[in-house]
Amino acid sequence: MNNKDTARSHYLEALGVQAWVRHAPRAAAPAPGAAQQDMPARQPKAENAAALTAQDILRMDWRALEQTVRVCTRCRLYQTRTQTVFGVGDRRAEWMVIGEAPGAEEDRQGEPFVGRAGQLLNAMLKAIGLEREQVYIANILKSRPPNNRDPLPDEVAACEPYLMRQIQLVQPKIILAVGRIAAQNLLKTDTKIGQLRGNRHTYPGTDIPLVVTYHPAYLLRAPAEKRKAWEDLKFARKVLRGEA
Ligand code: URA
Repeated sequence: MNNKDTARSHYLEALGVQAWVRHAPRAAAPAPGAAQQDMPARQPKAENAAALTAQDILRMDWRALEQTVRVCTRCRLYQTRTQTVFGVGDRRAEWMVIGEAPGAEEDRQGEPFVGRAGQLLNAMLKAIGLEREQVYIANILKSRPPNNRDPLPDEVAACEPYLMRQIQLVQPKIILAVGRIAAQNLLKTDTKIGQLRGNRHTYPGTDIPLVVTYHPAYLLRAPAEKRKAWEDLKFARKVLRGEA
């Protein structure tokens, strides 16, 4: 089976369609936390996040950033979350995937995209030949909004420097914004997601290309749109390769 067939079969699986192909044995998954092995064991004292300026946050290294987010009180959401959800994956990844905010399962486990939407995201990534561990995944918000309501503008603003710093540290070759909330907040626009899709944007203030696709939670509700998401992913891969 060639690469194209493999990608197609993964995507068909994500669609819930049985693709009658034999799978090659999988490579062993990296050990949990493998991407963080270069981190020294000693943790720095967390900063009092509420007192920090954006500039303070934009100077932090990974350890300081992670510790500061862990105990963050920059917006009201610390009162209702179980724990913060920092981000996960390869800190030197070419692909950075940015979603909206933790849901119930992410709030429980402390990791982005681990619920049903996360499983579909993993399948979508596989369809373009990427394991979850090969990308870096983060959200606009690090804390779950109660009942999964939309993030409020002041919550997005309070959390923004964390994501900006993550982007600066990862230096991805492409950002995939999943869903309307992520796309509109990253691009600072009110334009509808349907119009943002299919274009090569750049993350403001940088030359990092940014491509928009539908949120996997939306795709679970509207499976007919999965074909469009597949087109978005292929487009993003072209952008990364400098072909679009
Ligand atoms: N939806 C998101 O946008 N992010 C998550 O981490 C989980 C669900």
